Amino acid sequence: MLTRRKLIDMYIRFFEEKGHKRIETASLIPVNDPTVLFTTAGMHPLVPFLLGEPHPSGKRLVNVQTCLRTNDIEEVGDMGHLTFFEMLGNWSLGDYFKEDAIAFSYEFLTSPKYLGFDKNKIAVTVFAGDETAPRDDVSAKKWEEMGIAKENIFYLEKEHNWWGLAGGVGPCGPDTEMFIDTGKPKCSKNCSPACKCGKYLEIWNDVFMQYVIKSAGEKAQPLQQKNVDTGMGVERVLTMVNGLKSVYETECFKPVIEMLEKLSNKSYSDEKYSKAFRVISEHIRSATMILGDKNDVVPSNVGQGYVLRRLIRRAINYARKLEIEASQLTQLCQFYIDYFKADYTSLEKKKQLILEEFEKEIRKFENTINGGYKEFEKAVSKMQNNTLEGEVAFRLYDTFGFPIEITQEMCADRGIDIDMEGFFESYKKHQELSRSACVGVFKGGLADDSYESTKYHTATHLMLAGLRKYLGEGVHQKGCNITDERVRFDFSFDRKLTDEEIVLVEKFVNDTIDKQLDVVCEEMPKDNAYKKGALGDFGSKYNDIVKVYSIIGVSCEICGGPHVCNTKELGKFKIVKQESSSAGVRRLKAILE
Ligand code: SER
Repeated sequence: MLTRRKLIDMYIRFFEEKGHKRIETASLIPVNDPTVLFTTAGMHPLVPFLLGEPHPSGKRLVNVQTCLRTNDIEEVGDMGHLTFFEMLGNWSLGDYFKEDAIAFSYEFLTSPKYLGFDKNKIAVTVFAGDETAPRDDVSAKKWEEMGIAKENIFYLEKEHNWWGLAGGVGPCGPDTEMFIDTGKPKCSKNCSPACKCGKYLEIWNDVFMQYVIKSAGEKAQPLQQKNVDTGMGVERVLTMVNGLKSVYETECFKPVIEMLEKLSNKSYSDEKYSKAFRVISEHIRSATMILGDKNDVVPSNVGQGYVLRRLIRRAINYARKLEIEASQLTQLCQFYIDYFKADYTSLEKKKQLILEEFEKEIRKFENTINGGYKEFEKAVSKMQNNTLEGEVAFRLYDTFGFPIEITQEMCADRGIDIDMEGFFESYKKHQELSRSACVGVFKGGLADDSYESTKYHTATHLMLAGLRKYLGEGVHQKGCNITDERVRFDFSFDRKLTDEEIVLVEKFVNDTIDKQLDVVCEEMPKDNAYKKGALGDFGSKYNDIVKVYSIIGVSCEICGGPHVCNTKELGKFKIVKQESSSAGVRRLKAILE
């Protein structure tokens, strides 16, 4: 049996022997990147180096990276989708290119010293070519030379054989993907790895990052540096090498599924329950890794905190199906802390906090979940046109704490439609009634910003202005994380702030609040914003047209918002903690009372 430990060690050693340096696993929560909530691939923290900045560890890198992908949370529970996973990756930053990358991949996949797959069971795809980049004959030729039969090499379009970050901006390029042929018959004459019939299972992806998209909607342009970025999911490899049916049979989930079997007295193999086993084990694993990350995230109604809340609450919802008390799920959290702590040391350090936050969230939802179910059943019995009223969905969200995605799933399970337009209308009405915030809060998206977090966005601008006033203009924002209970703010500064400095910054913010200044938002081209003197420390990450928020005489920043209308809405500002974030970067936590 190939274990996770052996696989990771084997992969790292293989690439170290080929001149790669192991780099540290980056945080699951990217601090300096406002464009994404979580690290979604091993290349993510490497973007500046793929674009040409020299990496301190050289041009050949390898690591295992924790990743979280959130677009398919409601799909989790089938056999394949995961939110959290570990990705093995190797990179060439302008060093070797297609031929060496393919030779490395081939050796690792087929050599009996490594994964030992039969070369006849490997199928690969290469880019078919379009107006951006030519057909990738170089990769196809190399695969053939290595020993992959011509009929197992497939040319596919951009949709399948091109990789770049979600959002469409950043380094990108054609890729060549590797699949294990399960031996099932072809589902049709045109059956290929692009098809979802289950004949081919993806095992590895080599991306040739030789292009960049500079801003949304722009065409890809060639990069000077030709890079390789590869990614291989640990859980999938363990499934395939060990000949298992799904990731849930691997060591990553099996022990937890067995724990759930004991707690519930039900069997995973009973089809009535197997989805619930999968959802609970998967979501608790992801929630533990988010809570245990070195950057703090707690359940909330905004950003990463909202994803965390959804994961925990969806797991609780499925725990009901297994008739398990939600509080018992803490044991699973404990299991994952122990399982991963040797690799990700913040888990052990934050153990107490992880368990406390987890239990707190369970208690919050437990208090309302039964009421919510009753409300749901009552509404279902009275509904018209087989559609749940939007207002009911909103009440479930607002009063009973049901993330809207959970209500949607409950409806889908029962074959009921849901009036989402009505939900958004109720939501909007409620926001308008409960506050007077200016802009952008209701974005039609669901990872919404509450009024509390909106206040923190504005308070953060005031804090940055105060820091620059007393510590100098060398202070720049390095990262920011807001919940509806606090802001955590990272900025460039290389020493501890004195108590006097903290008091001065607090006083500056509170005085500005007392002055009752309007917060004004304007949209303009990015260059004009800089000319106007707006601060904006994430230059290339902004779109061409940006929003600039100004508080006259105090602050002017490029920012997506949302913000309150007037500083008087903020209450009292207090800095509650300071610490070092990394070399040359300080971290402050502040609250509004
Ligand atoms: N970035 C590519 C992927 O996520 C290869 O790692 O598939």
